[in-house]
Amino acid sequence: MGTNADLLETFKSEFLGDHSDDKKVNTNAGSGKTSIDVMDVKNTADYKIIEKMDNAYGREGMNNPYFMPRSGHLSNKVTSKGKEFICYSGYNYLGLANDERVVHAARLSLDQYGTHAGAARMVGGEMDIHGELEQTLCDAFGFESCITTVGGYMTNVTTIGYLMGKRDLIIMDEYMHNSGVMGAVMADSRRIVFPHNDFDALESLLSANRGNYEKAMIIVEGAYSMDGDLADLPRLVELKKRHRCWLMVDEAHSFGVVGKNGLGLCEHWGVDVKQIDLVMGTLSKSFASCGGFLGGAEDMIRLLRFFAPGVLLYSTALPPASAAAANAAIKVMLEESWRVEKLQNNVRQFSREAIERGFDIGKSGESAVVPVMLGNSMLAIHLMSDLQQIGIIAHAVMYPVVPESQARLRFFITSEHTQEEFIYTLDSLKRILANTTACAGA
Ligand SMILES: Cc1ncc(COP(=O)(O)O)c(C=O)c1O
Repeated sequence: MGTNADLLETFKSEFLGDHSDDKKVNTNAGSGKTSIDVMDVKNTADYKIIEKMDNAYGREGMNNPYFMPRSGHLSNKVTSKGKEFICYSGYNYLGLANDERVVHAARLSLDQYGTHAGAARMVGGEMDIHGELEQTLCDAFGFESCITTVGGYMTNVTTIGYLMGKRDLIIMDEYMHNSGVMGAVMADSRRIVFPHNDFDALESLLSANRGNYEKAMIIVEGAYSMDGDLADLPRLVELKKRHRCWLMVDEAHSFGVVGKNGLGLCEHWGVDVKQIDLVMGTLSKSFASCGGFLGGAEDMIRLLRFFAPGVLLYSTALPPASAAAANAAIKVMLEESWRVEKLQNNVRQFSREAIERGFDIGKSGESAVVPVMLGNSMLAIHLMSDLQQIGIIAHAVMYPVVPESQARLRFFITSEHTQEEFIYTLDSLKRILANTTACAGA
């Protein structure tokens, strides 16, 4: 069995080494002059990365931390090949995925409707459970209207892609999730990114560009999925009004987490949700299910309901059991306010313990995403692997997903984690880091 040092060497040479061959495949694609068969997907740069990763982990006899086999329930713990791990890589923020009431609601729905939603709702017909879930979402978050879809990712892509067009401007935070970026690509609008959470820069960019376009949309995340920090909603509302833009807020990581009752960014900032043109959320994080949703004004949601491809048109509706599980999970969250409180206490506690041990957690601390900044991809991989060997799962986020100087381990905190787990995790991390640094210096 190989050592971590061997694994690091492999990564250094294979991932951060000379990729000129990979580039050659890409640049020659379509020129007709290359001897490489561009129609063979194995020749793509991305496929080569997959092979290198398989080789690196296989050769060194290390557990591959990606696509780990797992069994049983996901809570603060997860089981892989019969071994239990403390898990910081799950989205079950409020611990509702295994709640008996949530599971029971899904079971009842299976008995009532079977497994299938039929077709796109426009032609397949409306099941009560979809309407019930949309009403629950409106009641909980204060939306005038709401629609649910089969996925959060697709919700962003299709909403942005449908609403915006060639003569329009999309301006988004540089850390916006890939689904927002792909929505903007689909829209084919003028795309501008502003530096992360820099609203002075956003204002300047709007002043300079807004006048040249017809419609305009500002897109941000409520709580950022990499950094865990929050967007300044009052400032955004002021800017969107002054420059006559739509404001779309992706609350994938803020619903169920941020605000006294887990009602997200509007609750946190004391802003009326009706000030936001499009609030996007997912059912796949705090709400223990799968699917996406959009909240907004009646007219806006009505338009999307009829015409946005992939929302309710051209896409089969959310499976009824998933809708029922999410519906029950939101109700439990509202009835049992201790869950959000516990999650927020856990975030504070993990953050405090991390800072006390000298870790840099960036600007996080108000959402369930807490990065431990390392500033070095190799170090992040090393620590991920060492933690895994002592029963802790926390994934590395490294270049090119984030700049090399911001490589990190990312921890998703849940209401189910315990103080003992935090102390064990952070003490272990500190010890491993000290040993690694000592070895590197030797
Ligand atoms: C910010 C953000 N938006 C959208 C999505 C996509 O949501 P889903 O996983 O429900 O498709 C994610 C997924 O993690 C996300 O982090």
